[in-house]
Amino acid sequence: MADTPPATRTSPRVLCIAGSPRRHGNSEQLVDACVRGVAAEGGTPTKLVVVEYKIKPCQGCNACSLTGECVIRDRMNEVYPMLDEADAIVVGSPVFFATVPAVLKALYDRCQPYWARTHVLGEPPRTPRRPGALLLVRGGGDPFGFQAAVYTTKSVFAVLGLDYTRELKEEGPDSPSDMGRHPEALARAEEVGRSIVRSAKGE
Ligand SMILES: Cc1cc2nc3c(=O)[nH]c(=O)nc-3n(C[C@H](O)[C@H](O)[C@H](O)COP(=O)(O)O)c2cc1C
Repeated sequence: MADTPPATRTSPRVLCIAGSPRRHGNSEQLVDACVRGVAAEGGTPTKLVVVEYKIKPCQGCNACSLTGECVIRDRMNEVYPMLDEADAIVVGSPVFFATVPAVLKALYDRCQPYWARTHVLGEPPRTPRRPGALLLVRGGGDPFGFQAAVYTTKSVFAVLGLDYTRELKEEGPDSPSDMGRHPEALARAEEVGRSIVRSAKGE
């Protein structure tokens, strides 16, 4: 996969987003492993637990197509600077009905101002592009897989100026204690953290 390094930094800031409504569940355990990897490689991780922010859904008012800003006043206003200032972003999420859960989808949809700025207001796309990664877990037992969650995330990464450079897809863990039986997935999540720091450093 393409991996375009952003400006070189000695300690890249990596935003690690935990997208499940369930605290300390399987996807958050992957995010925590990734955070450890980021720190071990000399990066600066920030963990964002989406459910704690109570992000309201996009209301489709299109005000952002006029001003480039969202009119909703909630804690998404704390998230926008985190998205802007990160040198790399990792999203960890469970699969819910084939795609990402509503709490994470609300964050994704509230990225519409980024789309409006480039596609309606004529602002240039963000450069340099940054590396992005997706860590997915699903219980399994339905035929629809990971693909819808991947496409949804790729669509958001595109407007955030992120290259989709790494992914982890783990099938099987359902109850939170299940992840302990998937140590290789945790090790891969940690390596995603390490390697995305190397990319963000331009290595
Ligand atoms: C509302 C809901 C919808 C789900 N939909 C799917 C699905 O479509 N496919 C699947 O494989 N697992 C599905 N699952 C199972 C979760 O992906 C699984 O429990 C996962 O480990 C939860 O991760 P978490 O602990 O990070 O929340 C669903 C679970 C819930 C609660």
